[in-house]
Amino acid sequence: MNRNLALEFVRVTEMAAIASARLMGRGDEKEADRAAVDAMRVMLDSIQCNATVVIGEGERDEAPMLYIGEKVGSGEGVELEIAVDPLEGTTICAKGGLNAISVMAIGEKGGLMHAPDTYMQKIAVGPEAKGLIDITATPTENLKRLADAKKCRIQDLTAVVLDRPRHEELIAELRESGCRITLIGDGDVSAAIATAQPDSGIDILFGTGGAPEGVIAAAALRCLGGDFQGIFRPRNQEEIERAKAMGVEDINKVMKINDLASGNVMFCATGVTDGTLLDGVKFKSWGATTHSIVMRSESGTMRNITAQHHFDKKPRY
Ligand code: FBP
Repeated sequence: MNRNLALEFVRVTEMAAIASARLMGRGDEKEADRAAVDAMRVMLDSIQCNATVVIGEGERDEAPMLYIGEKVGSGEGVELEIAVDPLEGTTICAKGGLNAISVMAIGEKGGLMHAPDTYMQKIAVGPEAKGLIDITATPTENLKRLADAKKCRIQDLTAVVLDRPRHEELIAELRESGCRITLIGDGDVSAAIATAQPDSGIDILFGTGGAPEGVIAAAALRCLGGDFQGIFRPRNQEEIERAKAMGVEDINKVMKINDLASGNVMFCATGVTDGTLLDGVKFKSWGATTHSIVMRSESGTMRNITAQHHFDKKPRY
């Protein structure tokens, strides 16, 4: 995969972030998401690549743009697969909260899991605990292994969990174990990435969230040298059937990080609202500033990119 592509793709998340950030705090999740999708779709076609959306806004019949199977890019070059979430944290953006991002992962053909729109149980950690986590073991056991790897006590670790009634038992066990906990309203992609960021204050992610977001998080952690495991948690028979139709043979399989994102992977994300990982879009008299990260699994390089966008010189989203 051409390494320069990573720097091209960040222009896509930048534009999607600017478009949705305009609608921050307006209370309209759909409109904020639509703005991000529109901007991302337009920008993608300006990139010289031959990509297929494998994770996007849904099936063709339910999403007019960025649907699964849609071809994007100029059509030149090697075949790529992309997993996009133009606005990860629609509610966060609608409320003007923390950690809404625009995000995409890029893989080689066959590199990204074609995850159905169902739930996934997830566990994510940074590089220190790579190869040590086991989603089938108890959270306490995983915390013990992480504490050993980080040479600290469980009480010194912070776990991040989506604040949902389905996590009642999980949260009770974590509290029993003595670890510190950050309960988040939304946005488990940036939470998973935070586990691999030394200064984030987050050590491990537990819990069930969106399956597409799981693939995107796994791609990011591949680049950062962290670890991730997932198990699909479908809510009904229809979701099981949909998964089968998308090629999932064993719905109960424990998916390791390489099952979700293999080969060379690139990842980029731009902050929509301020967050632990990224600063949000700031509008100025002349345009806007953005903060993004771009990473590649091949080199392990992570670039922080701040950009000034002058609206008089480029189309205004
Ligand atoms: P959206 O941006 O699509 O709203 O997703 C936000 C999110 O919090 C994800 O980060 C997470 O994986 C998922 O929703 C959790 O789903 P649910 O809100 O149904 O618990």
